[in-house]
Amino acid sequence: MISLFRKVALLLASLVSIVYAVHTIEVHNQEFVDTVTNKRLMIIGVDYQPGGQSGYNPGAGQDTLSNGTVCLRDAALLQRLGVNTIRVYNVDPAANHDECASIFNAVGIYMILDVNSPLSGESIDRSNPAGSYNVGYLTRVFGVVEAFKGYPNTLAFFSANEVMNDIPTSKDNPPYIRAIQRDIKNYIAKHSTRTIPVGYSAADVRPILQDTWAYLQCNINGTADQSRSDFFGLNSYSWCGGDATFQTSGYDVLTTMFSNSTIPVFFSEYGCNKPQGTPRVFNEVAAIYGPEMTALSGGLVYEYSEEPDDFGLVVINDNTTVSLRQDYDNLQGQYNKLNITLIESANSTATGLTAPACSTDLISSSGFSTNFTIPSPPDGVNDLINNGIKNPNNGKLVQVTATAVPMAVYASNGNQIQNLAITPLPNDESNTPGGETTTANTTSTASPSASPTKKGDAGKSFNVATSGLLGVALTVLLLS
Ligand SMILES: *[C@@H]1O[C@H](CO)[C@@H](O)[C@H](O)[C@H]1NC(C)=O
Ligand SMILES: *[C@@H]1O[C@H](CO)[C@@H](O)[C@H](O)[C@H]1NC(C)=O
Ligand SMILES: *[C@@H]1O[C@H](CO)[C@@H](O)[C@H](O)[C@H]1NC(C)=O
Ligand SMILES: *[C@@H]1O[C@H](CO)[C@@H](O)[C@H](O)[C@H]1NC(C)=O
Ligand SMILES: *[C@@H]1O[C@H](CO)[C@@H](O)[C@H](O)[C@H]1NC(C)=O
Ligand SMILES: *[C@@H]1O[C@H](CO)[C@@H](O)[C@H](O)[C@H]1NC(C)=O
Ligand SMILES: *[C@@H]1O[C@H](CO)[C@@H](O)[C@H](O)[C@H]1NC(C)=O
Ligand SMILES: *[C@@H]1O[C@H](CO)[C@@H](O)[C@H](O)[C@H]1NC(C)=O
Repeated sequence: MISLFRKVALLLASLVSIVYAVHTIEVHNQEFVDTVTNKRLMIIGVDYQPGGQSGYNPGAGQDTLSNGTVCLRDAALLQRLGVNTIRVYNVDPAANHDECASIFNAVGIYMILDVNSPLSGESIDRSNPAGSYNVGYLTRVFGVVEAFKGYPNTLAFFSANEVMNDIPTSKDNPPYIRAIQRDIKNYIAKHSTRTIPVGYSAADVRPILQDTWAYLQCNINGTADQSRSDFFGLNSYSWCGGDATFQTSGYDVLTTMFSNSTIPVFFSEYGCNKPQGTPRVFNEVAAIYGPEMTALSGGLVYEYSEEPDDFGLVVINDNTTVSLRQDYDNLQGQYNKLNITLIESANSTATGLTAPACSTDLISSSGFSTNFTIPSPPDGVNDLINNGIKNPNNGKLVQVTATAVPMAVYASNGNQIQNLAITPLPNDESNTPGGETTTANTTSTASPSASPTKKGDAGKSFNVATSGLLGVALTVLLLS
């Protein structure tokens, strides 16, 4: 038996090395739910892909989540903005994401990762799904799972993005989307200590949108088989401009379409920049998180950085500094008006829904697949699922030591923001809009945590919680 002194020493050492972690998220029927608090997680998110597709350069070991300094800068700005989730479109399964994932974890931001990339052989080719669904492709997909399964802030994986974008492409592709989902979910079941939701990100093309959702959420043979989507993302830009409303945007139609969804539905992209162009006013935020749309689970604004298609909230300058655009301020102002209590409350009525059995009656467009015979895994894939891929690159949380952003960040009025830093949320919370504004007075030297926000309060409870835990642990030891 080891001495009490040694026990205490070991205990202290283990407390010092605690890495705080957000609570993992599960799907409960129509909602994402925090596995510890049982509160609903509404996605308040931003699509994060600086550099667009060229930001992904696996030959050089580079992707959006591989440079900790860059992630620190962007996490500080995304935390202030008030988001709890980012979506990253292209990741390199071989790169080291530990610093970036840990930084986003520390500030209470979840990650949704697409398993695909624009490089040849790294996604389903919609013109040749059978030919592109092969063991080489799935090895990459499982590599992404291996790289991200160990981070508690990995919220979900996208099996595919906008593969079906018209009637012709919806003829043969849907069974392959379900096949990939089945394979990913079987791989997770075998090689991850927890479930991680897997779903699809759909183009808002009518009429195939509703068919895509119906095809992916139904139960084949009436049982919840692994090929079913765990959630449904919708890329929709139908709310355009400051004068749009719940009705004129068609959000009313979307809400009705998905009101009895048995899986979470959210906007995986939104934020139309036409016809008025930028700056965007983001009036749709009040609708998305308001009482009329609680059937949906929030959304991700397209997109963090300014790229050629002009959707950026910020401009990343060549010298690695960042300049906020008015869009950032406008979005932050909208987030600050949200009712977090409403957003976090789960709907007990919605938990009683059961998915329909798959059948041709669910599909309304002539030409959309009604084939619910899902392709078998290609040769070699069952072996990968059973035994794991060779030499997986398993990410894990690391200590986040640096909190101050080293490069300059300029507010939309051109002033440099002073003392920009991440504010780790030590009590495992997810981030929420903090009531902060970034332009109001950027020449002030007050640190962001000095403002009376939820984040400030979370920071205060840290010492109490930690010393309380220590006291309990010591008492247990002394009694044992
Ligand atoms: C990370 O990004 C910073 C800023 O762009 C750059 O100075 C640094 O060299 C990068 N680090 C690595 C390892 O690429
Ligand atoms: C559905 O049932 C059929 C007939 O028993 C079977 O061949 C098929 O594999 C089942 N599909 C799924 C996804 O379970
Ligand atoms: C709700 O789901 C059922 C199938 O389970 C469907 O028949 C019905 O039309 C749906 N309602 C709406 C409003 O979509
Ligand atoms: C970085 O580039 C931006 C945009 O060109 C410029 O406004 C800013 O002064 C530069 N900052 C530094 C520190 O060089
Ligand atoms: C926020 O939502 C909750 C739950 O619906 C409600 O009780 C409360 O009155 C709302 N607060 C405000 C300020 O509207
Ligand atoms: C709860 O879910 C049910 C079923 O989807 C829906 O009819 C109802 O409007 C929801 N209520 C709230 C407050 O979200
Ligand atoms: C349905 O798909 C399966 C494989 O996914 C295929 O073998 C079968 O021929 C298809 N059935 C029809 C009627 O196209
Ligand atoms: C910003 O803060 C500085 C220093 O506290 C103060 O002198 C200045 O008047 C403030 N400006 C505005 C616009 O509030």
